[in-house]
Amino acid sequence: MFADLSPADQAKYVAAKRAVELVEDGMKLGLGTGSTAAWMVRCLAQRVKAEGLRIQGVPTSTRTADLARELGLEVVTLDQAGHLDITIDGTDEFDSALNLIKGGGGALLQEKIVASASDRMIVIADFDKHVPQLGKFPLPVEVLGFGLASSRDHIARLLADHGLAGCDITTRKQGDAPFVTDEGNFILDLHLAQIPDAPALAIALNQVPGVVENGLFIDICDRVILGASDGRIEE
Ligand code: 5RP
Repeated sequence: MFADLSPADQAKYVAAKRAVELVEDGMKLGLGTGSTAAWMVRCLAQRVKAEGLRIQGVPTSTRTADLARELGLEVVTLDQAGHLDITIDGTDEFDSALNLIKGGGGALLQEKIVASASDRMIVIADFDKHVPQLGKFPLPVEVLGFGLASSRDHIARLLADHGLAGCDITTRKQGDAPFVTDEGNFILDLHLAQIPDAPALAIALNQVPGVVENGLFIDICDRVILGASDGRIEE
């Protein structure tokens, strides 16, 4: 099976499989969203089936919930689970302080709530996701549809105050229509190129009326597991 995967999927599989080895019987898990997290859900379902583990999973998107149910995992809501042992999720970027940019798949809101309700957040990724400074990947910000243009203008002024004047802000699209999140909101992608002070920007963005959450995960991730297509793992 492994040999049939593309090199990109091999790297994701290697990281996902290693992370799933850390799961113990009886744990309650946050299940991330994205192509790497989907490999984690597949590896987890395999282990649960093979070893008869009793695991409850809280998905971070309808996509992940659908996949988890399809593979026979027990899916519960965060309120039902109450507290989570580990969340395993992918990322779009991470830096050496283990701060992240997430939300490339549009699930950042549930991902941040679920990760923050977990004892540990483990990120799985390929080596390319490690960056010296966050910001090359456009920063997703989830905003209400009400007053979208006003929120965008407010964010532009805030970015200028943070030394990031003139950066492009685009409304994420799905085909010709705006992308709509699981909560019925929109995503603004901030094309910043670099974020000199990610912790300060994360706090400031969430002060803007209309902003629901931003994709900067500061001091949330505890561990990163990197996989490569040659089977190499770095933790
Ligand atoms: C979804 C996310 C994903 O974890 C992130 O986009 C990485 O995705 P992939 O594993 O497909 O590269 O944050 O909102």
